[in-house]
Amino acid sequence: MNKQDITQMKNIKIAVLPGDGIGPEIVAQAVKVVDKVAAKFDYNIEYSYGIVGAAAIDAVGDPYPAETHEKCMAADAVLFGAIGDPRFDNNPEAKVRPEQGLLAMRKQLGLYANLRPVTTFESLLHRSPLRYDLVAGADFMCVRELTGGLYFGRPQGRSEDGQTAYDTCVYTRKEIERICRLGFQYAASRRGKLTVVDKANVLATSRLWRETAKSMEKDYPNVEVEYMFVDNAAMKLIQQPSHFDVIVTENMFGDILTDEASVITGSLGLLPSASIGEGTSLFEPIHGSYPQAAGKNIANPIATILSAAMMFEYAFSDMEAGAAIRKAVALSIEQNISTEDIIPEGCQPHSTTEVGDFIASHI
Ligand code: IPM
Ligand code: MG
Repeated sequence: MNKQDITQMKNIKIAVLPGDGIGPEIVAQAVKVVDKVAAKFDYNIEYSYGIVGAAAIDAVGDPYPAETHEKCMAADAVLFGAIGDPRFDNNPEAKVRPEQGLLAMRKQLGLYANLRPVTTFESLLHRSPLRYDLVAGADFMCVRELTGGLYFGRPQGRSEDGQTAYDTCVYTRKEIERICRLGFQYAASRRGKLTVVDKANVLATSRLWRETAKSMEKDYPNVEVEYMFVDNAAMKLIQQPSHFDVIVTENMFGDILTDEASVITGSLGLLPSASIGEGTSLFEPIHGSYPQAAGKNIANPIATILSAAMMFEYAFSDMEAGAAIRKAVALSIEQNISTEDIIPEGCQPHSTTEVGDFIASHI
């Protein structure tokens, strides 16, 4: 390689956090794909691997160790797998839980916005539990607030006698404004429709959401805004998913609605996400660590591979590289090179690594 070639290479650092359960298997497929993209689009990528979640509790007793945080801060983007381990679920003795690592990571990296696009694959519409005519054409973006609300509000805990428990939902106008701004911006760049989801008929925080969003409407004259209670939104999502363009909502509502939305596409194993904010952005599938499948080479790697596509698009502004990944993913689905969750009846399911190999080889 001569000197000129070297200077044309784009140097980037990616922190890779495989996490728990199926995390290491699916992240390995995404890294395989990223390597192919790097070769094709002239990236020179330096990976640094970090521990997080139950894996980190086992190793150092902390689900988000300082060393992992430093790796994330030093990177241009973070690629993350999943967190969670059944050893800690329903275990009141557990002092630290893997999920605390995820929350600490989001908070410390300032990742206040979680972008969860919901799009359908034509060849997978038969997998959706919803009728074809309902899901065809569904295409929306859920903008979930990620560092506030019930997940972080204090006080949180138990009374001394253990018979009462409490969580606190807190939102400041500033927090609401910055996430709603993203919602408005996405709506303006898409089909111009924003749905603000809240529970303003009951919750004080929701009333502040509504008031804040309303005060911003004048800045976006081309965006049509509607306000919807979360229970109604949950219904509308499955009744008429194509109704939505951009949804903006608080942390907990966004968590619940996006799991619900994932069934529209046919599998939870398909939905990627980008968490963005004050510094390094993070890319992760929306699904969890699927511990029952860990080590079996059966989990669907597509959500993580599509998260890598979002990484190129959002963190490196490289739409072409993102499109190359999306195209290879679509091809794998069309040709039924798929894991058991989306394989059509009568076809032989493929393993996690086979799907990863196919997609990587079609970049
Ligand atoms: C998600 C997950 C997490 C969340 C859990 C694992 C803490 O469900 O990313 O949606 O609730 O945010
Ligand atoms: Mg969730």
